[in-house]
Amino acid sequence: MSVDFSGRWAWSEVHTGIIQHNVAIIAQRVAPAQIWAVVKANAYGHGAVPVAQAALAAGATGLCVAITDEGVALRRAGITAPILLLSEQPAEMSEFIVGYGLTPTIASTRGAATIAQAAAKAERTVAVHIKVDTGMHRVGVAPNESINLANYIQSFGSLEIEGLYTHFAVADDPSHPANEKQLNLFKEVVAQFAERGINPSMVHAANSAAALANPDARFNMVRLGIAMYGLRPGPGVAELCEGLIPALSLKGRVSAVRLVSAGEAVSYGLRRPLETESLIATVPIGYADGVPRTLANSDIQVLVNGEPRSLAGTITMDQLMLDCGNDFDVTVGDEVVLIGRQGEHSVTADAWADAIGTIGYEIVCGIGARVFRRYQ
Ligand SMILES: Cc1ncc(COP(=O)(O)O)c(C=O)c1O
Repeated sequence: MSVDFSGRWAWSEVHTGIIQHNVAIIAQRVAPAQIWAVVKANAYGHGAVPVAQAALAAGATGLCVAITDEGVALRRAGITAPILLLSEQPAEMSEFIVGYGLTPTIASTRGAATIAQAAAKAERTVAVHIKVDTGMHRVGVAPNESINLANYIQSFGSLEIEGLYTHFAVADDPSHPANEKQLNLFKEVVAQFAERGINPSMVHAANSAAALANPDARFNMVRLGIAMYGLRPGPGVAELCEGLIPALSLKGRVSAVRLVSAGEAVSYGLRRPLETESLIATVPIGYADGVPRTLANSDIQVLVNGEPRSLAGTITMDQLMLDCGNDFDVTVGDEVVLIGRQGEHSVTADAWADAIGTIGYEIVCGIGARVFRRYQ
């Protein structure tokens, strides 16, 4: 047994072949719509550059990010595919956006003017996507102001309207009436644009849930995030995720073992006295690495030597303890699978999320920077 490549007995494994598998499956389902892969937040914790490369290799034709820095990092890694910034950025980012050839979202005259200025200064024409707020009320121009915004954008010779889009608030619950309402509002805006001779080449609305659930929402592009990682957008669309495989595992090794007597308790707060003498295994990964502290209050189990094991007490910043019961064979160096498969069993980020009342997105995005990502 040797010290792990991460220099630490806690790491994450990301299978880019699985990302490709997931993208390819969804590409088939949504064709002829294009896929733009959503790789914001370090590709939901999976690693932006390797995921972007895998998605593009599997047929995605563009990428989406949340902030300018994320787009710049992809460009610096040599990625030349279109990169859409999903919301307006601070004005001072405009020169970077233009300089690095990122595609800005425009939702206001202010946003249009700052990008236009930077584009003119660089003597470039910049393709932009207009985002319409059809009901999510987070980002976007109001539907009844969208034509005015389009006219304003067209008044700048340095801007070209390449895309028109919106975002659903409850796509993970396909029967929710807000989906149809948003879709109809968006279609009206697309029709109004067409009536005025504005026909953006990219029209898009769907995230993973909408892309899987509603062919009508696909237009000619979908923005694919969570499903590409093999996680489900929500319980309401779980069945549509069949065939998708989680791409990320979170692993560690047992760093210490001890026998603890019945009646003793483990970790901060000494909250849960043991019913029987138990082997307690320490794993050097904690809430600073993205293992939620509240997980210890749930019935989630992780895997040691193929067996599901419960958390023995409070999760600390850098370490957690597992109750291995009377399995006295567990020893220092044994592999622990916190998320992933070991032997017969598997634990998913979605299961963690369900156990503590959150969503799989938050679990994988929360895996910290000091957890080494190994790519397969
Ligand atoms: C505007 C926008 N489009 C698409 C996505 C991708 O969503 P999902 O990960 O549910 O596919 C997101 C993610 O939050 C988003 O903010």
